[in-house]
Amino acid sequence: MSPCPDIRGEKGKRSMVTMSSGKTKKSLRTFMLAFSLVSFSGVISVGGYSIYMVHRIVKETSSLKEVSKSIFTVDNMHNKSYNLVLAIHHFIINRDNKYSRRAINLLNDMESDTINYIKHEESSSDAGSIEEVRLVRLIQDNLGEIKRNVIPLFDDVSRNKTRDVRKIIALEKYAYNIEKLTNEINKIHLVGISDGVEMSHRLLSSIFTLFFVLSISGIFSIYIFYRLHGRYIIKPIDDLADATRKLSTGDLSIRVSSNDKTEIGTLYNSFNIMAERLQDYEKKLIDFSRSLEQKVNERTHELKYAYDTLKKTQEKLLRLEKIAALGQISASVNHEIKTPLNSLYMNLQLLKKQVNQFDGVSLDRRKYTNEIIDIMDKETLRISGILDEFVRYARLAPLNMEENDLNKIVSETADMISQRAEQSDVRLQLNLSDTVPLFSFDDKKITQCLINLFINAINSMGNGGILAVETEPVENSMIRLIISDTGTGIKEDIIDKIFQPFFSKNKDGLGLGLPIVQGIVEGHGGKISCRSKVGEGTTFEILLPTDMPPGKEEDQQ
Ligand SMILES: Nc1ncnc2c1ncn2[C@@H]1O[C@H](COP(=O)(O)OP(=O)(O)OP(=O)(O)O)[C@@H](O)[C@H]1O
Ligand SMILES: [Mg+2]
Repeated sequence: MSPCPDIRGEKGKRSMVTMSSGKTKKSLRTFMLAFSLVSFSGVISVGGYSIYMVHRIVKETSSLKEVSKSIFTVDNMHNKSYNLVLAIHHFIINRDNKYSRRAINLLNDMESDTINYIKHEESSSDAGSIEEVRLVRLIQDNLGEIKRNVIPLFDDVSRNKTRDVRKIIALEKYAYNIEKLTNEINKIHLVGISDGVEMSHRLLSSIFTLFFVLSISGIFSIYIFYRLHGRYIIKPIDDLADATRKLSTGDLSIRVSSNDKTEIGTLYNSFNIMAERLQDYEKKLIDFSRSLEQKVNERTHELKYAYDTLKKTQEKLLRLEKIAALGQISASVNHEIKTPLNSLYMNLQLLKKQVNQFDGVSLDRRKYTNEIIDIMDKETLRISGILDEFVRYARLAPLNMEENDLNKIVSETADMISQRAEQSDVRLQLNLSDTVPLFSFDDKKITQCLINLFINAINSMGNGGILAVETEPVENSMIRLIISDTGTGIKEDIIDKIFQPFFSKNKDGLGLGLPIVQGIVEGHGGKISCRSKVGEGTTFEILLPTDMPPGKEEDQQ
């Protein structure tokens, strides 16, 4: 394992996932299992070794028990040999047979003891046993000698009542030999005991050493395990928890990076994949909401456009309705008003003639009556003029399209109204482009348009100003005609209404001037628009196509 987990994930900063593929993955579980197995085998081997040691101590102890028994047996032989010497002496001194029997019994006992001892020692594979057997056989030899000499000695003593000191001394020598031999055997035993005790001590101290080493290595292993566990398991999990916390607060760019090839690495990898997917979903969601917003905007725009178009169409329809109504009104006006008005006019002329021919009337009264008739005449003509204008607009007279010079028409119209402009202290400025071609339009209708627009402009400049007129050819074979003034301007809330018939802010106005202009311009296939700022002035822009064919147009509007 060589992990070095770090967390990267500042907003907008994307870290790369550095996980290894699953093929080379070392399992953390395998590591833990190996660690546990090593620890377990360590404990088992140390425990097993200790048990083995204890077993050896126990074995050693039981062999010591055997040695003690042998010591006891050998010591017994030693005592018996001593008692044998005593019994022989007693017999020689007291000549009592009970001592001779006792000596013989002791000899027999010792013989059987040596036989048993040899048997016992021969069954053991101990190196010391061979020596012991050798020594016991020497004891047997000495016993044999004693047995062979003691019986004749006892007979001699019983029969002759004599004591052969040399024989007694020889017997004692054998008995002392036996004592020496038993001492040597016991020496071997004592060496064996001391070896056994020493061995037990060694085994015990090795158990203690092992225990000590095991305790130290156990503490060390726990420490190492604690450090490894902390570094390779707890810290990566802490880092992951930290990253998860950041992810949950909305930082989807967070990534964890590690070269860890264990399950922790797999976990990191899964976390990164999850964060990647979440980020993708969020991006898709944002894209979707953006496209939705865009679609909503587009639809809103389309709806607004449709609404505007509908509004314009409605306005146009209203205007057309009004115009149609006007057409009907104009017929009856012509019939109902113009006819009696004509008759009134003719009768006024007749009245004037008769008043002038009538002699019974004084000159002053005739003059006065003539003046009244003139006023009535003038007013009748004015009403007739208004009616003509109204009927002209309402009748939608066809256009008479002929090739004309627009600049010339503009100049002539400007001349026509120059006097009126002067009266209102208005200066005329013409800026007419030489590149404006001749093209088909109704010169009278366009003149009428210009007059209407010029008069409106002059009316708006009560304290004088500048009335500027420009012409120029523009793209799409159109001519642009601009009429601007430095008058009062039009308020924003009424600028949409100025092309409606009968809309007027002038006390003497009918509100038909601009609708007539719009009707004529649109009748030519053109467009009119207006922009204005209160206190600065108004500009009307007319676009007229140059490619309208000449001829008389029917129903241009
Ligand atoms: N150049 C302008 N400056 C300021 N206001 C204007 C201008 N042209 C038009 N208007 C406004 O538009 C209204 C409508 O104009 P329009 O020519 O249709 O009718 P009118 O001049 O009032 O009457 P008429 O029928 O005699 O022309 C005017 O009453 C005026 O308020
Ligand atoms: Mg007008």
